[in-house]
Amino acid sequence: MDYQIKPLSDKLGAEINGLDLRVPMDAETTTTINNAFVDAVILVFRDQELTAQQFFDAAQQLGEPMDQHLSQYKVPECPMVSYVSNQERSNDGKRKLLGKAWHTDHSFQPEPPKATLLHGVELPKRGGDTWFANMRLAYEELSPTLKQRIEGLEAIHAYRESRDYLTKEEREAEALTDEEERAKNIVHPVIRTHEVTGTKAIYINPLRIKRFIGLNSEESADLIDELTMHATSDNFTYPHSWQQGDVIIWDNRQAMHRVEHNYDFAEKRLMHRIILKGGKPK
Ligand code: OGA
Ligand code: MN
Repeated sequence: MDYQIKPLSDKLGAEINGLDLRVPMDAETTTTINNAFVDAVILVFRDQELTAQQFFDAAQQLGEPMDQHLSQYKVPECPMVSYVSNQERSNDGKRKLLGKAWHTDHSFQPEPPKATLLHGVELPKRGGDTWFANMRLAYEELSPTLKQRIEGLEAIHAYRESRDYLTKEEREAEALTDEEERAKNIVHPVIRTHEVTGTKAIYINPLRIKRFIGLNSEESADLIDELTMHATSDNFTYPHSWQQGDVIIWDNRQAMHRVEHNYDFAEKRLMHRIILKGGKPK
């Protein structure tokens, strides 16, 4: 297949034109695509027309799909594929809009997914961009002082229903010792070394980190703010404006992302979603 890869920005991202994901990739293409993926942090495959099953078959060429725990969001004809929709409502009738704040996916798991894939099935006419932050570049450009402060630091990640940042009250509601936190929750390093490339990235999730080992909740909140502000500045981010047919894969080991719900809510925004197995962050 004759395809082209070109950068989407000087921060991160590459787009691939002319590759039909319904056709199995040969070994050479798989290698090229996987190399481009870990290098660019996100890849956008243009002009894909895929059923959920075809999307799933394509994803299997890039990794091993994982079950997604929220059963109410599974696509019935292909349950390894979930959907992300702006049409969902909570019991109180409020619209449930996921992914508004910067995060990396499922970091509360002992082995979080290495990658997430989204296929834009129905898109608003404008807006609804997904923003990405290059956490590898953000690490490289960190001040020596901050680099030193997070060297060897570990973070406590805990699952919560909420998709908002933790408040001070929430952080303090449950005061556990470091050892109790290790037993109850998941602890990951703040500097993560990439399994494939050996490069380092800042690995934080402002939605799920309760605090850092050895730091109290206030010190932790300040440090999370400082790292998030740095990593999500214009120097390291790229907003992806979706086109019909886009399939995106992002590397959760070296990216944070968020979606901007800045479109007309009368319009539907529907994505199909797959996550790929990853290792324990080290
Ligand atoms: C996700 C997510 C963002 C989007 O699926 O994990 O954060 O643009 N989605 O819908
Ligand atoms: Mn997400």
